[in-house]
Amino acid sequence: MGRVTTSPIPQGYERGLVPALMLPLARELLSRVPVAPGARVLDAAAGTGALARLLPRARVVAADSWDDMVAFARGVVPSARWTLADVERLPFHDGAFDVALCQHGLPFAEDPARAVAELARVAPRVGVLLWTGLAESPGFRALDEAARKRLGQGLALRFDDALETEAGLRGLFEKAGMGVTVERLRREARFASGAAFAEAYVAGSSLSEAEAIDEAREGLLRDVDDALRPWTGPHGLAFPVEVHVAVGSRGAQL
Ligand SMILES: C[S@@+](CC[C@H](N)C(=O)[O-])C[C@H]1O[C@@H](n2cnc3c(N)ncnc32)[C@H](O)[C@@H]1O
Repeated sequence: MGRVTTSPIPQGYERGLVPALMLPLARELLSRVPVAPGARVLDAAAGTGALARLLPRARVVAADSWDDMVAFARGVVPSARWTLADVERLPFHDGAFDVALCQHGLPFAEDPARAVAELARVAPRVGVLLWTGLAESPGFRALDEAARKRLGQGLALRFDDALETEAGLRGLFEKAGMGVTVERLRREARFASGAAFAEAYVAGSSLSEAEAIDEAREGLLRDVDDALRPWTGPHGLAFPVEVHVAVGSRGAQL
């Protein structure tokens, strides 16, 4: 019998953030990294499998380092083989995959260079997608500021030059022995309102476990709603988000 999922965060993440934010971006990443039918694919830091679910004809291993996430995600994307694994210490042999993918995983790694090196070790072709930085997204900036004010902690994302800049990302791949193309995309995130966005984010993230969340929730939702007024209209909230998509390849022309 499987382990019982204890945290509500994976479900909150799947319901609140995957359709609105993660799936459209997963499609962007996959349109730049062609995956042949039957190809061996790693979805690293897979979350609930936004990428994995879009590859029904590939042989997908979906890996995440959080056991509650893996336990929940198995039921969401049963076509993938799910496993518990840290992107910085992948338990696969060199070249075990044709393609290794990682969407919004690098900012959580303690050492993103090591994570990219691991992805490059297990596959000759690597695709990663990640936010460019808080400055480029009014939505995440508003959330980060409100969370710092109300909960004493910001978003659990790392932003630094290696991850935020094209040159930094390029350097991570080159260090891992790969040629790379890096593209910057600007897209739009849509939610019913700023408060609905904040509610969805809190439910799907570690903010929901912050000590003060119960007392702070209402104020936090109001702060984010207020800050996002300039992007809110009769049809709800629409704010810009920016991501980098990096596609690395060993031994092939890009
Ligand atoms: C923002 S979610 C992205 C999930 C998914 N790739 C998507 O696009 O929806 C980040 C995920 O990375 C996982 N994670 C964090 N640190 C990790 C690590 N060192 N190795 C593997 N997974 C990690 C988290 O458990 C979480 O599921």
